[in-house]
Amino acid sequence: MSSMASHIPMALSFLSSVASGLQASGLTAHKPSQNSSAPSSHSAAAPPAPLQNSTNLPTPGSSSASTYAAQASGGAAGSASSTIVSTATMCIQCHSKPRYSDGTKTHPYCSKTCAIKIKANSGVKTGSGNANSGNCDFCHNRPKFNDGTKTHDFCSKACARNANPQRKQSSASSGTSGQSQCQAPGCTNPPHPSSDYCSLAHKTMSENLCLMCLQAPKMANSHFCSQTCIDDAEKKGPMILEVPVGHSTFKSVCDQFKASWRHAGSTCPTVRRVYKIIMPPGKLASYEAYRTAVEAKGQFVAQGRSAGNENRRWHGTRRTCNLGDKGHTQFCGTTTCSLCSIIRNSFDITLWGKKTGWGRFGKGIYTSSTSSKSNDYSHNDCKSNLKAILLNKVIVGKGCKMLQDNTSLTSAPAGFDSVLAEKGGSLNYDELVIYNNEAIRPSFLVMYDEP
Ligand SMILES: *[C@@H]1O[C@H](CO)[C@@H](O)[C@H](O)[C@H]1NC(C)=O
Ligand SMILES: *[C@@H]1O[C@H](CO)[C@@H](O)[C@H](O)[C@H]1NC(C)=O
Ligand SMILES: *[C@@H]1O[C@H](CO)[C@@H](O)[C@H](O)[C@H]1NC(C)=O
Ligand SMILES: [Zn+2]
Ligand SMILES: [Zn+2]
Ligand SMILES: [Zn+2]
Ligand SMILES: [Zn+2]
Repeated sequence: MSSMASHIPMALSFLSSVASGLQASGLTAHKPSQNSSAPSSHSAAAPPAPLQNSTNLPTPGSSSASTYAAQASGGAAGSASSTIVSTATMCIQCHSKPRYSDGTKTHPYCSKTCAIKIKANSGVKTGSGNANSGNCDFCHNRPKFNDGTKTHDFCSKACARNANPQRKQSSASSGTSGQSQCQAPGCTNPPHPSSDYCSLAHKTMSENLCLMCLQAPKMANSHFCSQTCIDDAEKKGPMILEVPVGHSTFKSVCDQFKASWRHAGSTCPTVRRVYKIIMPPGKLASYEAYRTAVEAKGQFVAQGRSAGNENRRWHGTRRTCNLGDKGHTQFCGTTTCSLCSIIRNSFDITLWGKKTGWGRFGKGIYTSSTSSKSNDYSHNDCKSNLKAILLNKVIVGKGCKMLQDNTSLTSAPAGFDSVLAEKGGSLNYDELVIYNNEAIRPSFLVMYDEP
């Protein structure tokens, strides 16, 4: 029996644990009753850092933890600054002058001088994706596609399309979205009249492409096609990689968002973009080691669950830059941007409590199975039509169900790996709290319309 379970591809076991795991689910933070007069910002009360001197280097001990604190506490944080200008609009070299726009396209640099400088330093990790000129002009993360005779400006047809949406109109007679060519990589056949692809085989292939190269089909239990792409992605992390709209991964994330939008009287907003989050080197290994340890203790696979009782849970936080908006894949350098902090460094409990840390279940990281609940904690301190939310992998392990608040918790009760907070009444949404940094990794950044 258990051998059967262990043969279920991970993707499937994920789905089944999502479905069956609704009982064991988690949630996020609740509204604090003590002082709700403060704006429920999700982040630090820290004053905004001066932008001029900010860099894209990962900031050890950045304020990301206050994020979780604030998510739990409802954030006594001042709503720092709508005056913050997104560094995503700043030159990725000097960070002090706006990027140059030639009318059709915005370049990552303010000037030739900066473009040359960064090329000279291109071995230097910026922590902001990759400023390498060999990378796609749209996503800046993946290498430009070379078809054997020439190097294109973009990594893939998906990025070419994103960069030039007007190309759709130019050939509106063919295909569902007016593409003149099959959207499968390398295929130049005309699409089938009712499809973006020339054949079912090409459609299926395109829905399952490697998220790194977008050229070859991904392996069954991976987002990538090969060890080369796995290594390449890890080496370039941290970064975010846009998942094409037609991709099976886009659909799976989108489906979970919709299925877990539970607030009565509000319509589930449309998901516009999904990005795969690539952690910095080593961050996934420590997560996997923790999962192995929890699995060894709890034997979840034998019970038909995923290893470590891993589940996907939402977390809403504060965004001061435009990360995730169209064409914005570079992290900002401000310490007040919780979204960038979490994506670059994952969650960090040790930073808890510097502010007004308070959570119903103590010093932990709060997530939710309910997208509409985490939506309450997603805040833009930037100009954008879209909101951002994180879908995370969380090792739930053995969850301790708790009905009573206990704000003094600093770990799960003895014998448990997490706290599953439940409240009576259909209008409350439960929460999942974990107390170990290695028990969670941000997995997808999801951008959706304002509800
Ligand atoms: C709530 O916050 C407001 C504004 O920050 C403050 O004036 C008030 O004293 C606080 N009330 C409590 C009960 O903490
Ligand atoms: C940046 O920092 C340097 C030294 O840390 C300081 O001299 C300079 O004035 C700062 N620049 C701005 C624009 O704040
Ligand atoms: C809260 O948790 C602490 C630490 O586990 C424990 O000592 C205490 O008894 C708990 N309080 C309540 C009211 O359950
Ligand atoms: Zn690209
Ligand atoms: Zn084709
Ligand atoms: Zn690949
Ligand atoms: Zn940011």
